[in-house]
Amino acid sequence: MKIVRNQELVDFNTFGIACQSEYFVEIKSVNDLMDLSKQDIYKNQNKLILGGGSNILFTSNFQGLIIKNNITGVEITKETSDFVEVKIGAGVNWHEFVIYCVNQGWGGVENLSLIPGNCGTAPMQNIGAYGVEIKDTFTKLEAFEINSGKIAHFNAEDCQFGYRESVFKNQFKNQYVILNISLRLNKNPAINTSYGDINRTLESKHISNPTIKDVSDAVIEIRQSKLPDPNKIGNSGSFFKNPIIPISQLTDLKKEFPEIVSYKIDDSQVKIAAGWLIEKAGWKGKTFNNYGVHKNQSLVLVNYGGAKGQDIFDLSQKILEDIDKKFQIKLEREVNII
Ligand code: EPU
Repeated sequence: MKIVRNQELVDFNTFGIACQSEYFVEIKSVNDLMDLSKQDIYKNQNKLILGGGSNILFTSNFQGLIIKNNITGVEITKETSDFVEVKIGAGVNWHEFVIYCVNQGWGGVENLSLIPGNCGTAPMQNIGAYGVEIKDTFTKLEAFEINSGKIAHFNAEDCQFGYRESVFKNQFKNQYVILNISLRLNKNPAINTSYGDINRTLESKHISNPTIKDVSDAVIEIRQSKLPDPNKIGNSGSFFKNPIIPISQLTDLKKEFPEIVSYKIDDSQVKIAAGWLIEKAGWKGKTFNNYGVHKNQSLVLVNYGGAKGQDIFDLSQKILEDIDKKFQIKLEREVNII
């Protein structure tokens, strides 16, 4: 375990923002973290835990110590004829894990194919796509409490999962390093094709009785057609969350915008497609030098190469203000701003 000074971070964030961390260390095991926690640098420095770097925007150099979590390992901890419970190291790449499950015939995460990032950070924002969230298969996680050095156990209820939310983004922000997560996967999977795009893709391939592999392939195809590949164009997926507003406000908005895209949540609230709002406001595909709004999905801000994090942040602020002005809706950022 080597602590590096002034580490370049361009390859450690999917936005591809060039910036530096004053100190940087990669941990490969809980023991590494235990050893590190005894050192003065750990005790004295401001700390940031980094996973796959897929949900973060650096707006400046990081003053302090970045701890890159590279704890790997996949272990079956329980198995019956119906399900398998798997413990996955925080540093395992999420999509590689999904493909492993699909190949084993274990259902539950196939709709979450191709989501960038690592397994350990997936519960922090309760990753979700195409009608499924990680909370649907999540059973528990182990985490290292940064201040006390104690190992804590969280079950699904403790995590307080919500739409792109958990305790780790709120009251326990920056307080834990997630070491591993456990998911319960189904050996007799129930396919979830409730999301329109999946159904349409399967129909176009004349697949009427899809397997989890078919669903995973369909999700990969949809994502590749709509979302930029972070290996080619820097981005962090959806930059904003889809806002939740009262139904009464939607009724008013529909008078002016009858085609607005919304999803009912309960009798009083609806979720609005932020991508629709941003497109309607004229931002889709707008490019400013080397950054902009993606041409196929307005929720995604992109770095075409060499953009500064602050420029992207400023663009997001302009979009927030414009959406508030045009629709009286306050968007929230989904990405962590550093
Ligand atoms: N839409 C537009 N214009 C756009 C983008 C979307 O009109 O530029 C409309 C679409 O036509 C569609 C609706 O908005 O009617 C929803 O679009 P889409 O299916 O692309 O999903 P989304 O709500 O924009 C969310 C997630 C994505 C996830 C997809 C699929 C959030 C913030 N984003 O996007 O997650 O892949 O649903 O489930 O909830 C991510 O978190 O990084 C991410 C990509």
